Amino acid sequence: MADIKVAILGFGTVGEGVYRTIHSHEEELTAVLGKKVEVAAVLIKNKQKQRNISENILITTDFEEILSLPQLDVVVEAIVGKEPTFTFLKKAISKGCHIITANKEMFAHHGKELLELAKKNNVSVGFEATVAGGIPIIQTIRQLLKINQVRQIQGILNGTSNFILTEMREKKHSFAAALVQAQENGYAEADPTNDVEGFDAFYKTMILSKIAFGIEPNWEEVEREGITSISIDHIEAAEKLGLRFKHIASLNREGSHLVGSVKPALVTKSHPFYHVEGVDNAVCVQTDIVGRISLQGPGAGMFPTASAVIEDLVYVVQNQHSNLKLYHADNDHDLQKIDDAKELWFVHGLKENMINSQITWIDQITEEAIIIQATKQELEQLAAKHESIRFFSILGDYETKNKNKAEALAAL
Ligand SMILES: NC(=O)c1ccc[n+]([C@@H]2O[C@H](COP(=O)([O-])OP(=O)(O)OC[C@H]3O[C@@H](n4cnc5c(N)ncnc54)[C@H](OP(=O)(O)O)[C@@H]3O)[C@@H](O)[C@H]2O)c1
Repeated sequence: MADIKVAILGFGTVGEGVYRTIHSHEEELTAVLGKKVEVAAVLIKNKQKQRNISENILITTDFEEILSLPQLDVVVEAIVGKEPTFTFLKKAISKGCHIITANKEMFAHHGKELLELAKKNNVSVGFEATVAGGIPIIQTIRQLLKINQVRQIQGILNGTSNFILTEMREKKHSFAAALVQAQENGYAEADPTNDVEGFDAFYKTMILSKIAFGIEPNWEEVEREGITSISIDHIEAAEKLGLRFKHIASLNREGSHLVGSVKPALVTKSHPFYHVEGVDNAVCVQTDIVGRISLQGPGAGMFPTASAVIEDLVYVVQNQHSNLKLYHADNDHDLQKIDDAKELWFVHGLKENMINSQITWIDQITEEAIIIQATKQELEQLAAKHESIRFFSILGDYETKNKNKAEALAAL
Protein backbone atom coordinates (compact mmCIF):
# COMPACT_ATOMS: atom_id res chain seq x y z
CA MET A 1 0.00 0.00 0.00
CA ALA A 2 1.52 3.35 -1.07
CA ASP A 3 2.20 6.04 1.50
CA ILE A 4 0.36 9.35 1.46
CA LYS A 5 2.81 11.92 0.12
CA VAL A 6 2.51 15.44 1.42
CA ALA A 7 4.22 18.68 0.40
CA ILE A 8 4.37 21.55 2.89
CA LEU A 9 4.51 25.06 1.40
CA GLY A 10 6.15 27.37 3.95
CA PHE A 11 8.23 26.31 6.91
CA GLY A 12 7.49 29.05 9.45
CA THR A 13 5.45 28.69 12.64
CA VAL A 14 2.65 26.73 10.96
CA GLY A 15 4.63 24.76 8.36
CA GLU A 16 7.17 23.55 10.90
CA GLY A 17 4.40 22.71 13.38
CA VAL A 18 2.70 20.55 10.74
CA TYR A 19 5.98 18.84 9.85
CA ARG A 20 6.75 18.05 13.49
CA THR A 21 3.20 16.86 14.21
CA ILE A 22 3.16 14.50 11.21
CA HIS A 23 6.26 12.89 12.72
CA SER A 24 5.17 12.93 16.36
CA HIS A 25 1.75 11.48 15.47
CA GLU A 26 2.85 9.06 12.77
CA GLU A 27 1.32 6.05 14.50
CA GLU A 28 -2.08 7.70 15.05
CA LEU A 29 -2.22 8.91 11.44
CA THR A 30 -1.36 5.45 10.11
CA ALA A 31 -3.97 3.86 12.36
CA VAL A 32 -6.72 6.24 11.19
CA LEU A 33 -5.81 6.35 7.50
CA GLY A 34 -4.44 2.84 7.03
CA LYS A 35 -1.40 4.33 5.30
CA LYS A 36 1.74 6.10 6.43
CA VAL A 37 1.83 9.87 5.89
CA GLU A 38 5.17 10.98 4.51
CA VAL A 39 6.40 14.54 3.96
CA ALA A 40 7.92 14.41 0.49
CA ALA A 41 8.83 18.09 -0.03
CA VAL A 42 8.99 21.48 1.64
CA LEU A 43 8.78 24.80 -0.21
CA ILE A 44 10.60 27.78 1.31
CA LYS A 45 11.69 31.22 0.17
CA ASN A 46 15.13 31.56 1.70
CA LYS A 47 17.47 28.63 1.09
CA GLN A 48 20.12 30.02 3.46
CA LYS A 49 18.01 29.54 6.63
CA GLN A 50 18.98 26.59 8.82
CA ARG A 51 16.07 24.13 9.22
CA ASN A 52 15.57 20.90 11.01
CA ILE A 53 14.31 18.80 8.07
CA SER A 54 15.30 15.20 7.23
CA GLU A 55 17.87 14.85 4.45
CA ASN A 56 15.69 12.65 2.25
CA ILE A 57 13.04 15.38 1.90
CA LEU A 58 13.13 17.71 -1.10
CA ILE A 59 13.64 21.30 0.09
CA THR A 60 13.13 23.77 -2.70
CA THR A 61 12.26 27.35 -3.60
CA ASP A 62 10.72 26.18 -6.89
CA PHE A 63 7.10 25.00 -6.69
CA GLU A 64 7.34 23.36 -10.15
CA GLU A 65 9.86 20.89 -8.70
CA ILE A 66 7.24 19.85 -6.15
CA LEU A 67 4.55 19.51 -8.79
CA SER A 68 6.78 17.21 -10.81
CA LEU A 69 7.22 14.69 -8.01
CA PRO A 70 6.13 11.23 -9.24
CA GLN A 71 3.56 10.97 -6.43
CA LEU A 72 1.96 13.85 -4.55
CA ASP A 73 -1.34 13.47 -2.69
CA VAL A 74 -1.77 16.48 -0.42
CA VAL A 75 -0.40 20.03 -0.52
CA VAL A 76 -0.42 21.90 2.80
CA GLU A 77 -0.06 25.66 2.36
CA ALA A 78 1.30 27.81 5.21
CA ILE A 79 2.63 30.90 3.44
CA VAL A 80 1.62 34.51 4.05
CA GLY A 81 -0.37 36.57 1.49
CA LYS A 82 -2.68 35.97 -1.48
CA GLU A 83 0.02 35.31 -4.07
CA PRO A 84 1.86 33.23 -5.12
CA THR A 85 -0.14 30.89 -2.90
CA PHE A 86 -3.41 31.04 -4.85
CA THR A 87 -1.54 30.18 -8.06
CA PHE A 88 0.31 27.31 -6.33
CA LEU A 89 -2.91 25.84 -4.97
CA LYS A 90 -4.76 26.07 -8.28
CA LYS A 91 -1.91 24.15 -9.92
CA ALA A 92 -1.91 21.56 -7.12
CA ILE A 93 -5.65 20.98 -7.47
CA SER A 94 -5.41 20.73 -11.25
CA LYS A 95 -2.76 18.04 -10.77
CA GLY A 96 -5.21 16.08 -8.61
CA CYS A 97 -3.88 16.91 -5.13
CA HIS A 98 -6.04 17.61 -2.09
CA ILE A 99 -5.13 20.95 -0.56
CA ILE A 100 -5.09 22.30 2.99
CA THR A 101 -4.51 25.95 3.80
CA ALA A 102 -3.94 28.04 6.91
CA ASN A 103 -3.89 31.27 4.91
CA LYS A 104 -7.08 33.21 5.73
CA GLU A 105 -6.32 36.25 3.63
CA MET A 106 -5.84 34.13 0.51
CA PHE A 107 -8.80 31.88 1.31
CA ALA A 108 -11.19 34.74 2.07
CA HIS A 109 -10.38 36.17 -1.37
CA HIS A 110 -10.12 32.96 -3.40
CA GLY A 111 -11.80 30.19 -1.40
CA LYS A 112 -14.79 30.06 -3.70
CA GLU A 113 -12.64 29.51 -6.82
CA LEU A 114 -10.50 26.89 -5.07
CA LEU A 115 -13.55 24.96 -3.85
CA GLU A 116 -15.13 25.01 -7.29
CA LEU A 117 -11.91 23.89 -8.96
CA ALA A 118 -11.48 21.15 -6.35
CA LYS A 119 -14.99 19.88 -7.02
CA LYS A 120 -14.25 19.66 -10.76
CA ASN A 121 -11.05 17.74 -10.02
CA ASN A 122 -12.64 15.45 -7.45
CA VAL A 123 -10.32 16.53 -4.63
CA SER A 124 -10.94 18.11 -1.22
CA VAL A 125 -10.01 21.39 0.41
CA GLY A 126 -9.22 21.73 4.12
CA PHE A 127 -9.25 25.19 5.66
CA GLU A 128 -9.90 24.64 9.37
CA ALA A 129 -6.70 26.50 10.31
CA THR A 130 -7.86 29.69 8.60
CA VAL A 131 -10.32 30.47 11.41
CA ALA A 132 -9.67 30.46 15.17
CA GLY A 133 -6.47 28.36 15.04
CA GLY A 134 -6.91 25.16 17.03
CA ILE A 135 -10.67 25.50 17.59
CA PRO A 136 -12.45 23.02 15.28
CA ILE A 137 -15.18 25.47 14.33
CA ILE A 138 -15.30 24.75 10.60
CA GLN A 139 -15.61 21.00 11.12
CA THR A 140 -18.19 21.58 13.84
CA ILE A 141 -20.38 23.63 11.56
CA ARG A 142 -19.71 21.48 8.51
CA GLN A 143 -20.03 18.04 10.08
CA LEU A 144 -22.19 18.37 13.14
CA LEU A 145 -24.70 20.93 12.01
CA LYS A 146 -26.03 19.32 8.86
CA ILE A 147 -29.71 19.78 9.70
CA ASN A 148 -29.50 22.70 12.12
CA GLN A 149 -29.96 26.12 10.54
CA VAL A 150 -27.42 28.62 11.80
CA ARG A 151 -29.02 31.89 12.87
CA GLN A 152 -26.16 33.75 14.43
CA ILE A 153 -22.40 33.48 14.85
CA GLN A 154 -20.34 35.58 17.21
CA GLY A 155 -16.61 35.19 17.56
CA ILE A 156 -13.48 36.51 19.17
CA LEU A 157 -11.31 35.66 16.20
CA ASN A 158 -8.14 37.66 16.73
CA GLY A 159 -5.95 36.63 19.67
CA THR A 160 -3.70 39.69 19.40
CA SER A 161 -6.61 42.11 19.87
CA ASN A 162 -8.00 40.06 22.71
CA PHE A 163 -4.60 40.01 24.41
CA ILE A 164 -4.28 43.80 24.10
CA LEU A 165 -7.77 44.41 25.53
CA THR A 166 -7.05 42.02 28.40
CA GLU A 167 -3.72 43.76 29.19
CA MET A 168 -5.37 47.19 29.09
CA ARG A 169 -8.05 46.12 31.55
CA GLU A 170 -5.93 44.04 33.93
CA LYS A 171 -2.76 46.13 33.99
CA LYS A 172 -4.27 49.54 33.21
CA HIS A 173 -1.93 49.84 30.24
CA SER A 174 -2.58 52.22 27.37
CA PHE A 175 -3.29 50.71 23.95
CA ALA A 176 0.26 51.57 22.83
CA ALA A 177 1.88 49.92 25.88
CA ALA A 178 -0.28 46.80 25.55
CA LEU A 179 0.63 46.55 21.85
CA VAL A 180 4.35 46.69 22.69
CA GLN A 181 3.76 43.88 25.22
CA ALA A 182 1.98 41.82 22.54
CA GLN A 183 4.91 42.37 20.17
CA GLU A 184 7.45 41.40 22.86
CA ASN A 185 5.49 38.19 23.54
CA GLY A 186 5.50 37.34 19.83
CA TYR A 187 1.70 37.74 19.53
CA ALA A 188 1.78 40.79 17.27
CA GLU A 189 3.72 41.48 14.07
CA ALA A 190 6.02 44.50 13.73
CA ASP A 191 3.23 45.93 11.57
CA PRO A 192 0.12 45.03 13.60
CA THR A 193 -2.43 46.66 11.25
CA ASN A 194 -4.07 43.42 10.13
CA ASP A 195 -4.78 42.42 13.73
CA VAL A 196 -5.62 45.69 15.50
CA GLU A 197 -7.63 47.22 12.66
CA GLY A 198 -9.81 44.13 12.32
CA PHE A 199 -8.73 42.91 8.84
CA ASP A 200 -7.62 39.49 10.10
CA ALA A 201 -10.93 38.99 11.95
CA PHE A 202 -12.80 40.26 8.90
CA TYR A 203 -11.26 37.60 6.61
CA LYS A 204 -12.07 34.88 9.14
CA THR A 205 -15.63 36.15 9.47
CA MET A 206 -16.18 35.96 5.72
CA ILE A 207 -14.86 32.37 5.68
CA LEU A 208 -17.20 31.45 8.56
CA SER A 209 -20.09 33.09 6.76
CA LYS A 210 -19.66 30.87 3.71
CA ILE A 211 -19.59 27.77 5.85
CA ALA A 212 -22.51 28.65 8.09
CA PHE A 213 -24.83 30.46 5.71
CA GLY A 214 -23.62 29.46 2.22
CA ILE A 215 -23.19 33.15 1.41
CA GLU A 216 -21.13 36.02 2.61
CA PRO A 217 -22.30 39.61 2.94
CA ASN A 218 -21.07 42.09 0.38
CA TRP A 219 -17.67 43.04 1.83
CA GLU A 220 -18.34 46.78 1.50
CA GLU A 221 -21.47 46.40 3.65
CA VAL A 222 -19.66 44.82 6.59
CA GLU A 223 -18.83 47.25 9.36
CA ARG A 224 -15.15 46.74 10.24
CA GLU A 225 -13.55 48.56 13.13
CA GLY A 226 -10.42 47.66 15.08
CA ILE A 227 -9.52 48.34 18.69
CA THR A 228 -7.19 51.31 18.25
CA SER A 229 -9.72 53.90 19.41
CA ILE A 230 -10.49 52.19 22.72
CA SER A 231 -8.98 54.16 25.56
CA ILE A 232 -8.22 53.26 29.11
CA ASP A 233 -11.06 55.67 30.11
CA HIS A 234 -13.56 53.58 28.13
CA ILE A 235 -12.25 50.38 29.70
CA GLU A 236 -12.34 51.71 33.25
CA ALA A 237 -15.85 53.13 32.88
CA ALA A 238 -17.11 49.80 31.50
CA GLU A 239 -15.33 47.90 34.27
CA LYS A 240 -17.36 49.82 36.89
CA LEU A 241 -20.45 47.93 35.71
CA GLY A 242 -18.64 44.65 35.20
CA LEU A 243 -18.61 45.05 31.41
CA ARG A 244 -15.62 43.92 29.35
CA PHE A 245 -14.49 45.08 25.95
CA LYS A 246 -14.05 42.34 23.35
CA HIS A 247 -13.40 42.58 19.64
CA ILE A 248 -16.36 40.71 18.22
CA ALA A 249 -17.14 39.39 14.79
CA SER A 250 -20.82 38.74 14.23
CA LEU A 251 -23.04 37.36 11.53
CA ASN A 252 -26.79 37.49 11.99
CA ARG A 253 -29.38 35.93 9.77
CA GLU A 254 -32.96 37.07 10.16
CA GLY A 255 -35.16 35.82 7.37
CA SER A 256 -33.40 36.75 4.19
CA HIS A 257 -31.15 39.32 5.85
CA LEU A 258 -27.52 38.55 6.60
CA VAL A 259 -25.68 41.24 8.47
CA GLY A 260 -21.99 41.07 9.33
CA SER A 261 -19.79 43.25 11.50
CA VAL A 262 -16.34 43.11 13.07
CA LYS A 263 -15.96 45.67 15.83
CA PRO A 264 -15.43 46.25 19.54
CA ALA A 265 -18.40 45.59 21.82
CA LEU A 266 -19.01 45.12 25.52
CA VAL A 267 -20.02 41.83 27.07
CA THR A 268 -21.79 41.27 30.36
CA LYS A 269 -20.95 38.51 32.86
CA SER A 270 -23.65 36.29 31.39
CA HIS A 271 -22.04 36.25 27.94
CA PRO A 272 -19.76 33.26 27.08
CA PHE A 273 -17.04 35.69 25.92
CA TYR A 274 -16.74 37.42 29.30
CA HIS A 275 -14.02 35.02 30.48
CA VAL A 276 -12.23 34.65 27.14
CA GLU A 277 -8.95 36.33 27.95
CA GLY A 278 -5.46 36.81 26.52
CA VAL A 279 -4.73 35.21 23.15
CA ASP A 280 -7.64 32.78 23.33
CA ASN A 281 -10.32 32.76 20.63
CA ALA A 282 -13.96 31.74 21.01
CA VAL A 283 -16.93 31.18 18.75
CA CYS A 284 -20.65 30.98 19.63
CA VAL A 285 -23.01 29.46 17.12
CA GLN A 286 -26.75 29.91 17.57
CA THR A 287 -28.91 27.44 15.65
CA ASP A 288 -32.58 26.60 15.43
CA ILE A 289 -32.45 23.12 17.00
CA VAL A 290 -29.55 22.91 19.42
CA GLY A 291 -29.59 26.55 20.56
CA ARG A 292 -26.26 28.12 21.44
CA ILE A 293 -22.94 26.24 21.26
CA SER A 294 -19.70 27.86 22.39
CA LEU A 295 -16.17 26.75 21.61
CA GLN A 296 -13.10 28.34 23.16
CA GLY A 297 -9.39 27.66 22.78
CA PRO A 298 -6.04 28.73 21.41
CA GLY A 299 -6.54 30.84 18.31
CA ALA A 300 -2.98 30.61 17.01
CA GLY A 301 0.47 29.16 17.65
CA MET A 302 2.54 26.33 16.25
CA PHE A 303 0.74 23.28 17.63
CA PRO A 304 -2.85 24.55 17.92
CA THR A 305 -2.68 25.48 14.24
CA ALA A 306 -0.93 22.22 13.34
CA SER A 307 -3.75 20.39 15.11
CA ALA A 308 -6.28 22.01 12.77
CA VAL A 309 -4.17 21.10 9.73
CA ILE A 310 -3.65 17.49 10.82
CA GLU A 311 -7.36 16.99 11.45
CA ASP A 312 -7.95 18.39 7.95
CA LEU A 313 -5.34 15.97 6.59
CA VAL A 314 -7.46 13.05 7.72
CA TYR A 315 -10.56 14.76 6.36
CA VAL A 316 -9.16 15.41 2.88
CA VAL A 317 -7.44 12.04 2.51
CA GLN A 318 -10.78 10.42 3.26
CA ASN A 319 -11.94 12.73 0.45
CA GLN A 320 -15.02 14.11 2.13
CA HIS A 321 -16.23 16.64 -0.37
CA SER A 322 -17.86 19.73 0.89
CA ASN A 323 -21.26 20.43 -0.59
CA LEU A 324 -21.06 24.12 0.15
CA LYS A 325 -23.03 26.51 -1.95
CA LEU A 326 -20.73 29.46 -2.29
CA TYR A 327 -21.72 32.71 -3.87
CA HIS A 328 -21.54 36.39 -3.06
CA ALA A 329 -24.89 37.83 -2.05
CA ASP A 330 -25.73 40.32 -4.76
CA ASN A 331 -29.30 41.04 -3.84
CA ASP A 332 -29.73 44.34 -1.99
CA HIS A 333 -32.59 42.84 -0.06
CA ASP A 334 -30.19 40.31 1.46
CA LEU A 335 -27.83 43.03 2.52
CA GLN A 336 -30.31 45.37 4.11
CA LYS A 337 -29.13 46.40 7.55
CA ILE A 338 -31.25 45.51 10.53
CA ASP A 339 -30.88 48.76 12.39
CA ASP A 340 -34.38 49.45 13.58
CA ALA A 341 -34.19 47.26 16.69
CA LYS A 342 -33.72 48.89 20.10
CA GLU A 343 -30.48 47.72 21.70
CA LEU A 344 -28.45 48.53 24.78
CA TRP A 345 -25.45 50.76 24.25
CA PHE A 346 -22.52 51.92 26.31
CA VAL A 347 -21.95 55.52 25.28
CA HIS A 348 -18.96 57.67 26.15
CA GLY A 349 -19.08 61.45 25.88
CA LEU A 350 -22.87 61.78 25.67
CA LYS A 351 -24.42 64.47 27.86
CA GLU A 352 -27.99 64.29 29.12
CA ASN A 353 -29.04 67.38 27.18
CA MET A 354 -28.02 65.69 23.90
CA ILE A 355 -30.54 62.87 24.34
CA ASN A 356 -33.92 63.08 22.63
CA SER A 357 -37.10 61.39 23.75
CA GLN A 358 -36.64 58.33 21.51
CA ILE A 359 -33.59 57.30 23.53
CA THR A 360 -34.13 55.62 26.88
CA TRP A 361 -31.69 56.40 29.65
CA ILE A 362 -30.78 53.19 31.50
CA ASP A 363 -27.76 53.79 33.69
CA GLN A 364 -25.14 56.39 34.51
CA ILE A 365 -21.68 54.94 35.08
CA THR A 366 -19.44 57.96 35.33
CA GLU A 367 -19.97 61.56 34.36
CA GLU A 368 -18.73 60.61 30.91
CA ALA A 369 -20.31 57.21 30.39
CA ILE A 370 -23.94 56.16 30.27
CA ILE A 371 -25.98 53.18 29.18
CA ILE A 372 -28.94 53.85 26.95
CA GLN A 373 -31.46 51.95 24.87
CA ALA A 374 -31.74 53.11 21.28
CA THR A 375 -31.60 51.96 17.70
CA LYS A 376 -28.28 52.07 15.90
CA GLN A 377 -29.68 54.66 13.55
CA GLU A 378 -30.63 56.96 16.45
CA LEU A 379 -27.13 56.70 17.85
CA GLU A 380 -25.50 57.31 14.50
CA GLN A 381 -27.57 60.48 14.13
CA LEU A 382 -26.40 61.65 17.55
CA ALA A 383 -22.78 60.81 16.81
CA ALA A 384 -22.99 62.75 13.54
CA LYS A 385 -23.97 65.85 15.55
CA HIS A 386 -21.53 65.37 18.45
CA GLU A 387 -18.09 64.20 17.36
CA SER A 388 -16.89 63.31 20.86
CA ILE A 389 -19.38 60.45 21.24
CA ARG A 390 -18.14 56.85 21.13
CA PHE A 391 -20.67 54.05 21.41
CA PHE A 392 -20.44 50.26 21.74
CA SER A 393 -23.19 47.66 21.82
CA ILE A 394 -23.68 45.52 24.93
CA LEU A 395 -24.01 41.76 24.49
CA GLY A 396 -25.45 39.51 27.19
CA ASP A 397 -28.02 40.17 29.90
CA TYR A 398 -27.69 43.54 31.54
CA GLU A 399 -29.37 44.41 34.80
CA THR A 400 -29.16 47.86 36.25
CA LYS A 401 -28.45 48.22 39.96
CA ASN A 402 -30.21 51.56 40.15
CA LYS A 403 -33.95 51.79 40.57
CA ASN A 404 -34.13 55.21 38.97
CA LYS A 405 -32.03 57.90 37.39
CA ALA A 406 -31.87 60.14 40.47
CA GLU A 407 -30.48 57.25 42.52
CA ALA A 408 -27.85 56.55 39.89
CA LEU A 409 -26.81 60.18 39.70
CA ALA A 410 -26.61 60.38 43.48
CA ALA A 411 -24.35 57.31 43.49
CA LEU A 412 -21.81 58.94 41.20
N1 LIG B 1 1.17 31.66 13.11
C1 LIG B 1 -0.04 31.24 13.46
O1 LIG B 1 -0.29 30.95 14.64
C2 LIG B 1 -1.11 31.08 12.42
C3 LIG B 1 -2.36 30.57 12.81
C4 LIG B 1 -3.34 30.35 11.83
C5 LIG B 1 -3.08 30.67 10.51
N2 LIG B 1 -1.86 31.21 10.18
C6 LIG B 1 -1.63 31.51 8.75
O2 LIG B 1 -0.69 30.54 8.26
C7 LIG B 1 0.16 31.12 7.29
C8 LIG B 1 1.63 30.95 7.73
O3 LIG B 1 1.82 31.64 8.95
P1 LIG B 1 3.19 31.52 9.77
O4 LIG B 1 2.95 32.20 11.07
O5 LIG B 1 3.67 30.12 9.75
O6 LIG B 1 4.15 32.43 8.87
P2 LIG B 1 5.74 32.53 8.94
O7 LIG B 1 6.23 32.01 10.24
O8 LIG B 1 6.06 33.92 8.54
O9 LIG B 1 6.24 31.52 7.81
C9 LIG B 1 5.97 31.74 6.47
C10 LIG B 1 6.74 30.71 5.65
O10 LIG B 1 6.39 30.87 4.30
C11 LIG B 1 7.58 30.88 3.50
N3 LIG B 1 7.32 31.73 2.34
C12 LIG B 1 6.95 33.03 2.30
N4 LIG B 1 6.78 33.43 1.02
C13 LIG B 1 7.07 32.37 0.25
C14 LIG B 1 7.09 32.15 -1.14
N5 LIG B 1 6.78 33.12 -2.01
N6 LIG B 1 7.44 30.92 -1.60
C15 LIG B 1 7.75 29.95 -0.73
N7 LIG B 1 7.75 30.09 0.59
C16 LIG B 1 7.41 31.28 1.07
C17 LIG B 1 8.64 31.44 4.40
O11 LIG B 1 9.88 30.99 3.89
P3 LIG B 1 11.29 31.28 4.60
O12 LIG B 1 11.26 30.45 5.85
O13 LIG B 1 12.28 30.83 3.62
O14 LIG B 1 11.31 32.75 4.88
C18 LIG B 1 8.26 30.83 5.73
O15 LIG B 1 8.82 29.56 5.89
C19 LIG B 1 -0.27 32.58 7.17
O16 LIG B 1 -1.12 32.72 6.07
C20 LIG B 1 -1.01 32.86 8.47
O17 LIG B 1 -2.00 33.84 8.33
C21 LIG B 1 -0.88 31.40 11.09
